[in-house]
Amino acid sequence: MKAEDIKKIGVAGGGTMGSGIAQIFAQNGYDVVVVDLAEKFLENTKRIIHLNQKTLINEGLLTEKEAQDALKHISFSTEKKAFKDADLIIEAIIEKMGIKQDYWAEVESIAKNDCIFATNTSGLSINGISEKVINKKRFIGMHWWNPPHIIPLIELIKADETSEETVETLQQIVDKIGKESVVVLKDVNGFIGNRIQFAVYREALKIVEEGIATVEDVDKAMKYGPGFRYPVLGPFETADLGGLDTFYYISSYLFNELSAEKNPTKLQQELMDNSVFGVKSGKGWYDYSDGKGDEAMARRDENFYKMLKHIHNS
Ligand SMILES: NC(=O)c1ccc[n+]([C@@H]2O[C@H](COP(=O)([O-])OP(=O)(O)OC[C@H]3O[C@@H](n4cnc5c(N)ncnc54)[C@H](O)[C@@H]3O)[C@@H](O)[C@H]2O)c1
Repeated sequence: MKAEDIKKIGVAGGGTMGSGIAQIFAQNGYDVVVVDLAEKFLENTKRIIHLNQKTLINEGLLTEKEAQDALKHISFSTEKKAFKDADLIIEAIIEKMGIKQDYWAEVESIAKNDCIFATNTSGLSINGISEKVINKKRFIGMHWWNPPHIIPLIELIKADETSEETVETLQQIVDKIGKESVVVLKDVNGFIGNRIQFAVYREALKIVEEGIATVEDVDKAMKYGPGFRYPVLGPFETADLGGLDTFYYISSYLFNELSAEKNPTKLQQELMDNSVFGVKSGKGWYDYSDGKGDEAMARRDENFYKMLKHIHNS
């Protein structure tokens, strides 16, 4: 299947991720069908899309007319047979291996022979999810970041049998919907983004647990130091500009000091044992009681939109 032949997108599971994915494709002129288990879940899909669009309109990133036009492109169904004329199906159902495997086996029996199958799993093996699929050449990981209507990155993960054509087609599709793709050449845990994100988190935990700095100062150091660079330069560009010799010398004494923890740390375990889960429990590394969690999320969104506008306009 070539990118120009892809006209209709099937989205399996219209939750947090599926809603945003459907919305983005529809806003880019694709016909989309969202399939979920029951009407009440599809009502939720409509509600999320409406909320997402409202915020984009308020931020000046979408017009009323564009929003309305996009909605005309989306249909909803509780039956998988609605996927029968889809050219690309993206699955964003529950993160359970057995359920995903059976889901795909059934979808393959309904879908067109050349339809591309993409799973938005957060981290399950792509080879594992496609185990019951017969034609694995057209099967690929397509990892969107939450919130999908805002964050540009989409990681495309090759399973052992994914064809080059499938990868290339999806690279072009990602480009067409105004997102940014990277290709993960091996089916590994964490893909690229989460491996880097969790390497940073592991080191941040070590710094705090060893009393090197406070939580507040680690966050501040990240935002005003390395984090200030990261929207502009990746780690390799940073090293090139800093000097690979200098980075080599630093690596020779620093790597040895960095966390090599193989399990969640003691402090993480303590927080888990005390049900300290962050915003959702009203307490995390910071206090989120009395509406402070909502304020934190509103501040985050406001800043995300500033970044999105910057990307939009540059
Ligand atoms: N939420 C995130 O931050 C995030 C980020 C990247 C990837 N993902 C992945 O995306 C997928 C979906 O996550 P989510 O956060 O949107 O979950 P969610 O719970 O918000 O939505 C899942 C939707 O799938 C539906 N569903 C569940 N089982 C189904 C089935 N058998 N058939 C049809 N529909 C079914 C549910 O009714 C629900 O509407 C998961 O694989 C998750 O790991 C999530």
